[in-house]
Amino acid sequence: MHKYTNFAIYTKNNIIIISIDFFTIHNFRLKILQKLYFYGNFIKLANPIHPSLYSEMQFNIHNTDSSTLYKLLTGTVIPRPIGWISTIDNNGINNLAPFSFFNVVSEDPPHVMFSTVRTGNKNKDTLNNILENKQFVVNLVTEEVVEKMNATSQSVAADIDEFKLAGVTPIDAIYIRPKRVKESLVHFECEMVHHYFIENHQNGGACIIIGKIITIHIDDSILMENHRINLDKYKPVARLAGSNYSKLGEIFSIKRG
Ligand SMILES: Cc1cc2nc3c(=O)[nH]c(=O)nc-3n(C[C@H](O)[C@H](O)[C@H](O)COP(=O)(O)O)c2cc1C
Repeated sequence: MHKYTNFAIYTKNNIIIISIDFFTIHNFRLKILQKLYFYGNFIKLANPIHPSLYSEMQFNIHNTDSSTLYKLLTGTVIPRPIGWISTIDNNGINNLAPFSFFNVVSEDPPHVMFSTVRTGNKNKDTLNNILENKQFVVNLVTEEVVEKMNATSQSVAADIDEFKLAGVTPIDAIYIRPKRVKESLVHFECEMVHHYFIENHQNGGACIIIGKIITIHIDDSILMENHRINLDKYKPVARLAGSNYSKLGEIFSIKRG
């Protein structure tokens, strides 16, 4: 429900008319409706105000439910790369699932991070497997495998092999037990070095995994001279909000200052 309150602030030379649109007592949109200035006995329109001052909505995170926060964060922090993470449990069952709270965080030595949310205080199978044996493979997602990646985001019982479910081919890693997805063009074999359960959550929070990359596999078809990657052949896919994804758009260069 929206509730508008308008008021004016008088300064020495200006009157600023402000509207506050309350969504809740804690979440509101602030809008400067008009800035006027005194001109002799008259009041005139001021010069245009910087557009960023006109309108914004502010969210007090302590009073915003986690599903709204999820929409705001995943709608604005875009495009996100997707780590398609394969793990294995102690019974040898392969697990595969996509994570877009994912990125590379260091090259010296190389490390990645990703985060598994724990909605309802429940660990995902990926998290349980990594806590059990500390190993995972990051498979990177391209246009060719995006539908299969999506198939592995279903919530299924822990004893279902998601390689079979999605129809992708498991191939051995060199140093760790979890399998690589043959159809992916890039794989990182990783060992967990840290994990951190986010504190003070509303509904389970998340666990952040940091993994050291032990081996990088890159398909010959995308590797060019001087270790550059052929983007026309690679065709990576990123996640936007909800069920939206993006391909690479227009690429431009800018020299560092
Ligand atoms: C593109 C995409 C990105 C996702 N990113 C995340 C994420 O960053 N963190 C998360 O907890 N779940 C994420 N999910 C949901 C998981 O993939 C989903 O919960 C999956 O079933 C987990 O599988 P598991 O229980 O086998 O680990 C994502 C789903 C999709 C389709």
